[in-house]
Amino acid sequence: MPMLYKILSLLCLPVFAIAQTPHARIKIDLDRTVGTIDKNIYGNFVEHLGRCVYGGIYDPGSPLSDEKGYRKDVQAAVRKLNPTVVRYPGGNFVSNYNWLDGVGPKSERVPRLELAWGTLETNQFGTNEFMEFARSVGTEPYLSVNMGTGTIEEARRWVEYCNVKEGPYYAELRKKHGYPEPWNVKYWSLGNEMDGPWQMGHLNAEDYSKKALEAAKLMERTSPGIKLIAAGSSNYRAGADPDHWNRTVLNELKDVIDYIAIHMYVGNPDSNYYNFLATPIVLEQRIKLIKGMIAEAMQTANRGSKDPIYIAWDEYNVWYRARGGEAGRGKRALEERYNLEDALVVAEFLNAFIRNADVVKMANMAQLVNVIAPIFTSEKGMFRQTIYFPLELFANNVYGQSLDVFVESGVYSTDKFSLGMGESTTRQKKVPYLDVSASYKDGEVFLCVVNRNKDEAITTDIQSQNGAFSGDIQVTEVNGPGIKVSNDFDKEVVQSVAKPAVRAKGNTLTYSFPPHSFTLIKAKILK
Ligand code: AHR
Repeated sequence: MPMLYKILSLLCLPVFAIAQTPHARIKIDLDRTVGTIDKNIYGNFVEHLGRCVYGGIYDPGSPLSDEKGYRKDVQAAVRKLNPTVVRYPGGNFVSNYNWLDGVGPKSERVPRLELAWGTLETNQFGTNEFMEFARSVGTEPYLSVNMGTGTIEEARRWVEYCNVKEGPYYAELRKKHGYPEPWNVKYWSLGNEMDGPWQMGHLNAEDYSKKALEAAKLMERTSPGIKLIAAGSSNYRAGADPDHWNRTVLNELKDVIDYIAIHMYVGNPDSNYYNFLATPIVLEQRIKLIKGMIAEAMQTANRGSKDPIYIAWDEYNVWYRARGGEAGRGKRALEERYNLEDALVVAEFLNAFIRNADVVKMANMAQLVNVIAPIFTSEKGMFRQTIYFPLELFANNVYGQSLDVFVESGVYSTDKFSLGMGESTTRQKKVPYLDVSASYKDGEVFLCVVNRNKDEAITTDIQSQNGAFSGDIQVTEVNGPGIKVSNDFDKEVVQSVAKPAVRAKGNTLTYSFPPHSFTLIKAKILK
């Protein structure tokens, strides 16, 4: 503990009075592992919503698209983002979607009223188009079935269509549609946010659990070995009871599901930077809560050789500007434009997933293109939003064992504040200025650090407990001239910048993290 901090603490001065610790400390111990980082935490999400599909990944007739209609510039940006798994087709959209509308000859596909987001769904893009897109960008598909207006038999037929090689009707139908080989989709979710009254065909916890249990049975028998994700509740607004939903679902489905899905969106409606930068702490509190519920359910589960149930955080992002009214419905719905502070929050979300790598085994940024998204298009081109860069850095670097890292930095307290989704949180006390995760793979440590301090750099001693740092240490930073700066077409102000390599002195690397920055440090340790 730095001397000034010690003296002030002894004098019992309030924490905010010593908010800016001049020197911070991070200790890395390669023996203190949390769990293996699952590559699927770098997932993404494509919903039939606004311009995510049409005008986003798929734009037939555009000079920027290939002969099948896929936007080539978008595909290239998606590949670099390295999304390990992509969820489709919703979201709220799926609760009134019949997958059969989106397969077969395009000229025979019928348009439908889209009731979740208030548009006309042409169905020109459906299952096979999505699978081809997933293949083209090298990602694993993850499908969500309709547990709202759909039946369990419809869900089962979709599994047959995608995963059974030949024989039964829907497998043969796929072949007739020009796809002789099955897609072998591994991840299937049993509906989306079925706890929410906004969901078409919304159910209570008991009814959802019964329906999902029977759907799971049919789907698993059709394609043994698929991974099933139950819809958890993420509705922490006043009056809702997410704990009842999550306990019920875990208890009723504990023998058959592989994951429980949780979502979180945060925002900065009051334009209070420090409160906003503390929102990922609330996400981490919820991870701990659900982890406890899973542990409780596991005590009486009969799962054979299956792994325990994990968390699929299959929607997360900053979302508060493009909500409600015009911005929340129709062709240009949810077109959130991001700034630097949003990118820092996303980096913190990813840090939280790493720190909880033992239980968070999938996470999906919502969504991939145009709709609360890292990639933004027009008819003429695209640009990468600020939130693209932390995700790209994590997804291309941070794997291996998550480490239980020790951090000592200055702290601040927030007010009781709104999370931007009609939810509010209690006062967060002792929010550390440095938000850190660490991981280790093949002799290299990956340290991900957000400096929440808006005005001060934080000089930090990074100490290895196992051996000396060796050679050049690579540093990459996401930052910008101010917390409100954002990117635009031909103007990517915020991006990842490689900084000059640094060297450690034996076991200690001293580094100064600039204000409002995200830094990835890659260092070799001689064990
Ligand atoms: O991602 C936007 C929407 O947010 C999804 O459709 C829904 O699942 C969530 O409420």
